Amino acid sequence: MFAALKPQAPDKILALMGEFKADTRQGKIDLGVGVYKDPTGLTPVMRAVKAAEKRIWEAETTKAYTALAGEPAYLAAMARMVLGDGLDAGRTASLSTVGGTGAIRQALELARLGNPGVTVHVSDPTWPNHLSIMQFMGVPFVEYRYFDDATRGVDFEGMKADLARAKQGDVVLLHGCCHNPTGANLTLDQWAEVSAILERTGAVPLIDLAYQGFGDGLEEDAAGTRLILSRAPEAMVAASCSKNFGIYRERTGVLMVQVEGAGARDVAQGTLAYLNRQNYSFPPDHGARIVQTILDDDGLTADWRAELEEVRLGMLALREQLAAELRDLTGTDRFDFVARHRGMFSRLGASPEQVRRIKEEAAIYMVGDSRLNIAGLNRDSVPVLARAIVDAGV
Ligand SMILES: Cc1ncc(COP(=O)(O)O)c(C=O)c1O
Repeated sequence: MFAALKPQAPDKILALMGEFKADTRQGKIDLGVGVYKDPTGLTPVMRAVKAAEKRIWEAETTKAYTALAGEPAYLAAMARMVLGDGLDAGRTASLSTVGGTGAIRQALELARLGNPGVTVHVSDPTWPNHLSIMQFMGVPFVEYRYFDDATRGVDFEGMKADLARAKQGDVVLLHGCCHNPTGANLTLDQWAEVSAILERTGAVPLIDLAYQGFGDGLEEDAAGTRLILSRAPEAMVAASCSKNFGIYRERTGVLMVQVEGAGARDVAQGTLAYLNRQNYSFPPDHGARIVQTILDDDGLTADWRAELEEVRLGMLALREQLAAELRDLTGTDRFDFVARHRGMFSRLGASPEQVRRIKEEAAIYMVGDSRLNIAGLNRDSVPVLARAIVDAGV
């Protein structure tokens, strides 16, 4: 049986991590993998997370199973955090998932159960896992224009024209904030226009919200999602706690599904629990419990928000510094988009050959499509990167 297996192509970003590790040059800089790092290069455990873990350890008396859909208090806390006052509990089913990735996977499973002929519309470019999961599942997808190579902003006219082709019962996959890999995001007015297109076409939005709190702020980053849900009869939101709580390895996410019509919520809720059962039965609990402990405690929430804000502002300062260095070195403002982008990533617009030169000549690692992780920088490495970008002729 196993002799028939074929080698799988390695994940490009994980392969890049291996290459970085093997590089013996002093001062090498890793801007590849999408993990937040502080100025010393560490991915710290957040203070509130440590405090919550201590409380959980002290109070926990059992490790018995919880609920198939996950701990209800966690689901309620996440619904409040993501949807705010817009939460319509009577229309929202939710599921605790294995990270944000698990939420996307379950969303696609649900969409396919609801409409076996579903086509998913994805941004070009998008997070490569979106595509590989759909390829693996055999879910058809088409790309919509998103990134304008010339301005490094959103090609909104192209996006609108392509989304207008969506059909009733299709799914439109949108990045809620901090678009990965480009860093280019929709304005609230543009979200409203997307919402109108969804309304006209009858396509169902699936919003991937993996970086809430990393862009313009916790509430601001959810504004597009809230606007869409306030208008759409049906919608899905796949949210991840990996980045904003810094609990990557705990695998904590949630899928929220907004439905319409009498009885629809209970059927959707039952279907979500069924999907967990078929795939892995009960979802992981520890990360969910950490998040719920923080969100249900005013003191811990305040401390977590403060630390998340430090993280966000730190990344914004690095963006400003990089844009300013490049302005000085080139005498132009053509790299100012770096300061306008939001989240952990920016797509630089360098060719694969330039990305290779930057790696070989300056020991700076970024993904082949020239996505760089801003959090991999610090005040000292920003000028080194700026110089390497200019030397490579970007
Ligand atoms: C766009 C996007 N969506 C979802 C995820 C899911 O993250 P996780 O499964 O680690 O929670 C990520 C993580 O890198 C991401 O970048």
